[in-house]
Amino acid sequence: MADQNTPHTPITNPLLKWVDDRLPLVSMMNHATVDYPCPRNLNYWWNFGSLAGFCLVLMIATGLVLAMHYTPHVDMAFASV
Ligand code: HEM
Repeated sequence: MADQNTPHTPITNPLLKWVDDRLPLVSMMNHATVDYPCPRNLNYWWNFGSLAGFCLVLMIATGLVLAMHYTPHVDMAFASV
C-alpha cells in the first residue's frame, strides 16, 4: 500500500517526467485531484462553496473596474458603461 507521498499514478512518459521534475505542474494537479484524501461522503454539491468564492472574487474584480469607470449622473451613466 502506497503512502500519501507516493503518487498514485506515477508519470511514465520520460519527457513529461523530465519537465515535471523541474516544474511539477502535472504532479501538483495529480496530488490535488487524485491522491489527496477527502471524506467519501462529499458529493457535487460541495463545489458550490468554491463556486461562491469564485463569484465573490469575480464581483470584487468587476466592481473595482466599474468603480473606476461609472459616472453616477443621469445624463452620463449609460454612456459610462
Ligand atoms: C460568499 C459566501 C460564501 C462563500 C464564499 C462560502 C465558501 C465556502 C467554502 C469554500 C466551503 C468549503 C467547501 C464546501 O463545503 O462547499 C464552505 C463550506 C460551508 N459553508 Fe460556506 N460560503 C459562503 C456562504 C455560506 C453561507 C451563507 C452559509 C450558511 C448560511 C454557509 C455554510 C457553510 C457550511 C455549513 C459549510 C460546511 C459544509 C460541509 O463541509 O459540510 N456558507 N463555504
